[in-house]
Amino acid sequence: MIKPFYIIGFMGTGKSSLKRYLEISDHAIDLDEMFEAHVKMDISTYFEHYGEDAFRLQESKLLQQANAAYIVTGGGIVERDDNFDLMRERGVIIALDLPYEMCWDRIKDSDRPLVRRGKTTVEALYARRRPLYARADYVLDASLSTEVIAQTLYQIREEDT
Ligand code: S3P
Repeated sequence: MIKPFYIIGFMGTGKSSLKRYLEISDHAIDLDEMFEAHVKMDISTYFEHYGEDAFRLQESKLLQQANAAYIVTGGGIVERDDNFDLMRERGVIIALDLPYEMCWDRIKDSDRPLVRRGKTTVEALYARRRPLYARADYVLDASLSTEVIAQTLYQIREEDT
C-alpha cells in the first residue's frame, strides 16, 4: 500500500494549489474539502454554528479516515498532538513554509473564520504554530513553484519509501 504523504502548513502556504497539481497523476485529498462534504456546509458557517472545538474534533476524525497518496490538511491540524502522532505513524509529514506576510497577503481577503480575527491575532497564531510545523519530516520552501515542490515530493517518495 502506498504510504500517505501528509501536507501541512499555515493558511496561505499553497497546500490547496499543490493538491490540485498532485491529483493530476495521483490520488490526493484535501481534508477541508472532505470536511465540507461531510457536514454539508462550508467551514465558516460550521465555525459560526458549532465553534472551533467541534471543528477540531471532526477534523481529527476525518484525518483518521483519510487514505490517499497525498493528504492535504487544514492549517490547524497541528493543534492536536494526537493528529501529529497519527500522521507520523502512518506516513511522511511534509510542511510547507512561507513567511507570515506572504501568507497574510494570500489569505486576508478570504472567508476563513480565523482570518476574521484580524492580522495581529493571526500573526500570533502563525508564531505559535511555526515550531509545530517544523516537527515535520521535511520542511519545504513554499515560495518555490508548485511544480518544483511536487517534483521534490516525487523525489522524496523514491528515496523515503
Ligand atoms: C484553519 C485552516 C483552514 C481550515 C480552517 C481552520 C486553521 O485550512 O481548516 O479554516 O486553523 O489554520 P487552510 O489551511 O487550508 O486554509
